[in-house]
Amino acid sequence: MSRPPNRKILLGVTGGIAAYKACDLVRRLRDRNFDVRVVMTASAREFVTPLTFQALSSNPVHCALLDERAEAGMGHIELARWADLVLVAPATANLLARLAHGFADDLLATLCLATTAPLVLAPAMNQQMWQAPATRENVRTLRDRGVEMLGPAQGDQACGEVGPGRMLEPEAIAVRIESRFRGGALEGVKVLVTAGPTREALDPVRYLTNHSSGKMGYAVAAAAAEEGALVSLVSGPTALPAPSGVDRVDVTSAEEMHAQVMARAARCDIFVAVAAVADYRPAHRAEQKIKKGDGPGALDAALDLVRTPDIVAGVAALADRPFTVGFAAETESVEAHARDKLERKGLDMIAANRVGLPDRGFASGCNALSVLWRDGGRREFPLASKAELARSLVGLVAERYRAEHPA
Ligand code: C5P
Repeated sequence: MSRPPNRKILLGVTGGIAAYKACDLVRRLRDRNFDVRVVMTASAREFVTPLTFQALSSNPVHCALLDERAEAGMGHIELARWADLVLVAPATANLLARLAHGFADDLLATLCLATTAPLVLAPAMNQQMWQAPATRENVRTLRDRGVEMLGPAQGDQACGEVGPGRMLEPEAIAVRIESRFRGGALEGVKVLVTAGPTREALDPVRYLTNHSSGKMGYAVAAAAAEEGALVSLVSGPTALPAPSGVDRVDVTSAEEMHAQVMARAARCDIFVAVAAVADYRPAHRAEQKIKKGDGPGALDAALDLVRTPDIVAGVAALADRPFTVGFAAETESVEAHARDKLERKGLDMIAANRVGLPDRGFASGCNALSVLWRDGGRREFPLASKAELARSLVGLVAERYRAEHPA
């Protein structure tokens, strides 16, 4: 297959343990038809050999600034001009500091100064180093200059600590780079998604919940990320892995989901409420496991329930609200109920589906949607996989959002 033009990536690799993941990143970029040339710092070569990158990229690897043979081939200025995008993964704290201060003390830093191509960094370092005031300031400086930061992610670190500083997974980086080149329909738009069920505790061992698997919400989050959106996913308990490039926040109850959504809603452009939030929770959560029996407070007695906050209606009521999309799962009169919900909750759009049929909904991998929006518009998406439906829905959301917010 011939390679489309303008897909040349200069990949800088610096000396962190995540350098080994850069090998996989080269593969994933090449799988997407990018032409990749690798530049390694001296400390990166302590972790991985240039030969590995040469074999994976099918291009010579560039290491030294003052190398006569390399300059006779593709000199450093030529290399800087060659790139359509400069990506550094992993980018150490040291590299961030050198770039923030405009150093040109090795080949990679020099190329970053000499190029006019966009610069994207995937930081990777110990969590304390990432949170150090000097690094925070360097990141701010670089962002202010238009440098894009991918990650870092939260999680276990090679040093045994837990926190922000892990390099994003190669697949997530490749997805992001691909969508930059493709110019996704939601490039740079901030999207917040809720997914999954909530659990409302009765006592330390029991809870009220529903059959939601989270599949549809996760598919919506993944589809938005593929279109270049910056996606946060507030998720109830599910067994699903976070989609590539999506920032996931785990919650358990409706109240926790409400708090996490409200903390982010005013800063996002689009909110898609896919979660099957419990409408009621037990009025009291017993400290100890409730015993069976007839006495007051026993399990056989009637449960006192109270309403949970309506998250999507709360977001729709904000003064500076995002474009707000709700879901409606109905067993009958789908369209009438959905239209009523659209009005009552003050939404911009609602995606309605019929549940209770064996071939769709909840745990199934398939679904069908009727999407309605404010000025009376509607579109039907027939039975398809949730991934496909999510792509169609995100396409429509982007269309309606752009109609209201022309770029
Ligand atoms: O009223 P109903 O629960 O059918 O509305 C469904 C829509 O409202 C979904 O988008 C769901 O995510 C959202 N919802 C919510 N908070 C609730 C209940 C529902 O955000 N407490």
